[in-house]
Amino acid sequence: MPASASRLRIGSVGPVTTAAFARTVSMLSGMIRPGLPSPLRNLRPLIVASSRSAPSSVRARTAASSTAPECPQAIRAGSAVLAWNRCPRGGTCFRALAARRARPGTGFVKRSTQPLCTTETFDAAVDWRALHGDAFEGVRVVVTGGAGFIGSHLVEALVSLGAQVVAIDDLSGGDWANLDGFGASVERITASILDAERLGEAVAGSRYVFHQAALGSVPRSIKQPHRYFDVNFRGTLRVIEVSQRAGVGRLLFASSSSIYGNPPDDAAKREGMPLVPLSPYAATKACCEIALRTWTDSYDFDTVSLRYFNIFGPRQNANSAYAAVVAAFAKALHAGGQATIFGDGDQSRDFTYVANAVHANLLAARCGDDIRGSVFNVACGGSVSVNALYGHMAQLLDYTGPAPQHAPPRVGEVRSSRADLGAANAGIGYEPIVGFAPGMAETVRWYRAHLGPPAGPSEPDA
Ligand SMILES: NC(=O)c1ccc[n+]([C@@H]2O[C@H](COP(=O)([O-])OP(=O)(O)OC[C@H]3O[C@@H](n4cnc5c(N)ncnc54)[C@H](O)[C@@H]3O)[C@@H](O)[C@H]2O)c1
Repeated sequence: MPASASRLRIGSVGPVTTAAFARTVSMLSGMIRPGLPSPLRNLRPLIVASSRSAPSSVRARTAASSTAPECPQAIRAGSAVLAWNRCPRGGTCFRALAARRARPGTGFVKRSTQPLCTTETFDAAVDWRALHGDAFEGVRVVVTGGAGFIGSHLVEALVSLGAQVVAIDDLSGGDWANLDGFGASVERITASILDAERLGEAVAGSRYVFHQAALGSVPRSIKQPHRYFDVNFRGTLRVIEVSQRAGVGRLLFASSSSIYGNPPDDAAKREGMPLVPLSPYAATKACCEIALRTWTDSYDFDTVSLRYFNIFGPRQNANSAYAAVVAAFAKALHAGGQATIFGDGDQSRDFTYVANAVHANLLAARCGDDIRGSVFNVACGGSVSVNALYGHMAQLLDYTGPAPQHAPPRVGEVRSSRADLGAANAGIGYEPIVGFAPGMAETVRWYRAHLGPPAGPSEPDA
C-alpha cells in the first residue's frame, strides 16, 4: 500500500516561509536553557508535519531535463515511467529494465522478468553495481562527515560506483582511517562544515551533497544544547547555502527518527506524524528538516531528508563515552566486561544495518523531481528490544561474563521506535537490502577483528 510522501508544515498554514522559519528558530533558541531537563517539550504544538499525498500510487516521474539520473524504480518508457515490481519473496525488483508498458499512455509497466530480490536472502555484502549500475560513474559528490561511521560507508559505496568523492570532516568524531583501503582516490578535506570557504571548495562542481556531518548522541546533547544547535543546525544552514550557491543538484540530509518522540500508541512511525523532539539533538534535526524544506519551497533548491533509525555496522565508534548501543555492547562483551542497560531494556529500536542507509541515499539521489523537499524513513521496519539485542550480541560474541547492569533510563530517549516504510518504498523504491541478523553477524565479525583492549567504561546510547 503506497503511503504519502510527507511535506513539513508549521501549524496548518501551509508550506513554511522563511520568516516563519526564522521565528521558530528564534523561539527555539530562547527555549534552550541549560538545566531544563527537556526544554523542547514545548515544541509539540509548534511543529507538526502534515502529509501531502504523493503522486498516485507509486508513480515516479523522471524529467528528461533533471540533473538527477532516473529513479531506479522509474523506467524510461517514453515520457511517463513507472515500475514497481515485487518479487515472489517479497523483495523489490530493481532489475526491471526489461519491463514493458502495461497501460499505454500511463507509463505503467509490467513485472520484470529478471527480478533482483533484495530481501534477507542476501548476506551483508552488497554489490552496489548490481543495485545502482553506472548512475554515479564519474559524478562528483561530496560526503560531509565522510570520516565518520555512515559517511565512510557512503564514501566506500560511491567509490565502488566510480564517483569522484570529496569527503569533508573536522575529525571531531570521525577518523580518516575509516577510509583506509578504499579511499585512495577520495579527496579528503579536514575542515568544519561551518567553514564556508573550505566547504565551498568541497562542493564546487558537485552534483550531490550527502550531508552526514553532525554531533550525535541524545544524552550529550542534553548536556550541550548550544553546541548541538551550533554544529548541527547552523552547520546545516551553512551546507545548504554553500551548496545552493555552488549549483548542487540535490542535497541529501541525514535526519533522525528521534524527531518523532513517543507516539501515543507505540505506532509505527510515519513521515506525516507530528514531530515531537525530546532532546536538543532531535530538535536540531527537526529544525534542519524545516530549513531544508524552506530552501526547497522558497529558493527552489532540491533537498531530501532521510530519517535514519538506529543505524549500526562496522566502523561505528565504540571508543566513545557516548557510543551507540550496538557499539557499546560490542566493546563491553568483546572485552568480557559488564554492559550497562539504561532502563528496563524493554525499550525497542528499529535497528538498521548501515548498508540500508547507504542504499537509501543512493536511491534518493537518483530519483526525479517528484521527491524534492520530501522526507523518508530509513529503517528495517522491525522492532528489537535492547534486552533482545543484548542477548543476540552476547550469543554471537560467545559471551560468558556477568549479566548486564541496569541504570536509570536517560532523559530525552524514546521508548520504542519502529518505522513505517511505505512512503520510502513508494517514493524512492527503498526496501532494506540487509536484514538485522546478517547485518549484526557482519558487525560482530568486524568488532572482533578490530576492537583492541578496553579503553575505559562506555555508555550505550539507547
Ligand atoms: N548512527 C545512527 O544511528 C544515526 C541515526 C540517526 C541519524 N544519524 C545521523 O547520521 C549522520 C552520521 O552519523 P554517524 O552515526 O555516522 O556519526 P559519526 O559521528 O560517526 O559521523 C559524523 C561525522 O561528522 C563529523 N563532524 C561532526 N561535526 C562536524 C563539523 N562541524 N564539520 C565537519 N564534520 C563534522 C564527525 O567528525 C564524524 O566523522 C549524523 O548526521 C547523525 O546525526 C545517525
